[in-house]
Amino acid sequence: MGNIEFISSLENVKENDLQGFFVGWQNPPTPARHLELLRDSDYVLLALDPQSKKVVGFATAITDKHLAAYIPFLEVLPEYQKRGIGKELVTRMLLVLKEFYMIDLLCDTELQVFYEDLGMKKAAGMMQRNYTKQNGI
Ligand SMILES: CC(C)(COP(=O)(O)OP(=O)(O)OC[C@H]1O[C@@H](n2cnc3c(N)ncnc32)[C@H](O)[C@@H]1OP(=O)(O)O)[C@@H](O)C(=O)NCCC(=O)NCCS
Repeated sequence: MGNIEFISSLENVKENDLQGFFVGWQNPPTPARHLELLRDSDYVLLALDPQSKKVVGFATAITDKHLAAYIPFLEVLPEYQKRGIGKELVTRMLLVLKEFYMIDLLCDTELQVFYEDLGMKKAAGMMQRNYTKQNGI
């Protein structure tokens, strides 16, 4: 994982530091929208390249502040994948959320092993996607 830094503050993060995310999305949010959703999430964790100070990975969580937490986003830039950054982000997020009764997320079946390695359990889930809103409300 080298010298990747993990931070939970958005204080010094600018739109320009959030390039290259939402890989494969047809209508992705802009970096400005990305920054807004990070600010409006209950919890955020960022992985930073210490040289460039750019964000190379992020995870968010939203909660009801009592029992339930949901992790909608986890992404590591392709060129930084397979170096343990994703696992570190999830490990840290689960620690942040450890007082919650429920911690849920949805993922593709091939990623279930990734989350099982971090102590999570498989479950069935349901979802709806309004693709015309993919870049934000
Ligand atoms: C999933 C993701 C965050 C993992 O980040 P990462 O930094 O590469 O993860 P790590 O290096 O910590 O862990 C790598 C492990 O993840 C697993 N993994 C990652 N992507 C996978 C995939 N698409 N399918 C199956 N396993 C995968 C591998 O088993 C790998 O294990 P290994 O180290 O034994 O080879 C990254 O692949 C990503 O951003 N993907 C696109 C967005 C996404 O799918 N997010 C998850 C939403 S639920």
